[in-house]
Amino acid sequence: MTVSYCTDRSKFITGEFEMNKIPHGQAQRLTAPCPFGLVSTVKDDGSTNLMAVSWWCFLSNHPPMLGVCLSKKGLSGSLIEKNGEFTLNIPGESIKEAALNCGRCSGRTVNKPVEFGIELEDAEIVKAKLVSASRVAFECKLVSINEAADHVMYMAEIVAEHGDPEVNQLFAFDGYSRVDTVK
Ligand SMILES: Cc1cc2nc3c(=O)[nH]c(=O)nc-3n(C[C@H](O)[C@H](O)[C@H](O)COP(=O)(O)O)c2cc1C
Repeated sequence: MTVSYCTDRSKFITGEFEMNKIPHGQAQRLTAPCPFGLVSTVKDDGSTNLMAVSWWCFLSNHPPMLGVCLSKKGLSGSLIEKNGEFTLNIPGESIKEAALNCGRCSGRTVNKPVEFGIELEDAEIVKAKLVSASRVAFECKLVSINEAADHVMYMAEIVAEHGDPEVNQLFAFDGYSRVDTVK
């Protein structure tokens, strides 16, 4: 099944342009570039876990809130539930490969910041660390947990925000298999 991109507006007017029914995975790929972030949590031994996440969004302005939607299979969700806080970091291109690697293995078996050489720094309010090479980093306190079938949406209040506009933001492409900047 081919998917057409219509650049010619006259095709809409004459009715020549038709969308096709497509599988869910393809629909997800076609929404790229997708948001990309690293959720930072504190493991039981006090070390930091980093997880790649595309399914995040702002939820409220007053107070500022965001949500991250995490698979029930990973480690990070259980750490958010245990500690009631996390940070969401929007990494820059200087850690492109390292950040992508955080989505390819679990903190159950890998110390990701050490293994992939990702520098961390203390947050202002929460215990979870910030990823230093980020365009934006949010400190978050858990407000509610909402099951969404095979995922869980963690809704959190943003209690502090940090940023560096000089850092080029990464986005996810190709069904979350690649991250890159957008020119
Ligand atoms: C670009 C990218 C985006 C991802 N987005 C999500 C996401 O939004 N939610 C999710 O549950 N997993 C997502 N993943 C997969 C997790 O990062 C992956 O399952 C990870 O191993 C979980 O780590 P943990 O077990 O240390 O928590 C993504 C992976 C990549 C590479």
